[in-house]
Amino acid sequence: MSVSPDVIAKIEEGYAKLQAAPECHSLLKKYLTKEVVDQLKDKKTKLGANLLDVIQSGVANLDSGVGVYAPDAEAYTLFKPLFDPLIQDYHNGFAPDAKQPNTDLGEGKTSALVDLDPEGKFINSTRIRCGRSLQGYPFNPCLSEANYLEMESKVKAIFDNITDPELAGKYFPLDGMTKEIQDQLIKDHFLFKEGDRFLQAANACRYWPKGRGIFHNNQKTFLIWCNEEDHLRIISMQEGGNVGQVLERLIKGVKTIEKQAPFSRDDRLGWLTFCPSNLGTTVRASVHIRLPKISAKPDFKSICDGLKLQIRGIHGEHSESEGGVYDISNKARLGLTEFEAVKQMYDGIAHLIALEKAA
Ligand code: ARG
Repeated sequence: MSVSPDVIAKIEEGYAKLQAAPECHSLLKKYLTKEVVDQLKDKKTKLGANLLDVIQSGVANLDSGVGVYAPDAEAYTLFKPLFDPLIQDYHNGFAPDAKQPNTDLGEGKTSALVDLDPEGKFINSTRIRCGRSLQGYPFNPCLSEANYLEMESKVKAIFDNITDPELAGKYFPLDGMTKEIQDQLIKDHFLFKEGDRFLQAANACRYWPKGRGIFHNNQKTFLIWCNEEDHLRIISMQEGGNVGQVLERLIKGVKTIEKQAPFSRDDRLGWLTFCPSNLGTTVRASVHIRLPKISAKPDFKSICDGLKLQIRGIHGEHSESEGGVYDISNKARLGLTEFEAVKQMYDGIAHLIALEKAA
């Protein structure tokens, strides 16, 4: 079956809307050329996803940085003319013929990552996360309510099997969680926010809160999000700047989960997830850091760009800084190993702290 005329019309309207918006600077706008539209508008994946599914979030949200999502794994290849240049732009020049290196989480190397801020002057907390998709399931827009519930019960069974005392904990489904608990978990930066307009417009929040939830250990230093943006987001975090400890715990957690669940991996793109910004390693290593002097300078952003770092506010993506505290992480997740991604953040933050001390 081909793509219906009204979907094609919406794709063309979306293209026109982006073109007519000077305030829009997304990668979608940059790479959705007329040629790409014409080449891809009548294509459909085996599961029925089309170009509108890919672009609709960025069309609805003109302030998107990226603006596209992959409704299923096949979308990354079927809609290559859009994804490839966008991926290359986002991930430090990862070319269409480049290949993600083999996984190297950094086992045996974490002790090289000493505390970045032993005096506790700059860094509030350190967090490293990665995303994983369960083999056999597409991404959000193509999941049914039954899929969500089935995936949740599968991963819950896996969580129940975690016996390592540092990692063991409990799964808390979002469905039935009190507003107080949910708000507190969000405020403390443990749980994902609700109502992300970028995800909503991508059709990624259907049946919410069904099948969504959070697992965490008692100390809330090892957490797993279930079915928010990705099937799984595996997270290790703690106060202070001890990156090595945080990575060590993440490695242990990922290896524990991996033994029980096969994840989708692509030979070229590495671990596959819903957003092209999260391919390859899917690793985002970050700190919440106070850099009052250098962050006030006009070239702060360009210094971070040069160090391959990305800046966010402390209430997550698309939020503003508060009290001079920034969330700073590696930007690229593809085309390097997991350990290198963490090291990129580590070296960059060490540099920023040196600049702050000298300012
Ligand atoms: N679609 C959003 C944007 O373009 C988010 C992109 C990256 N972040 C993410 N959580 N996947 O701004």
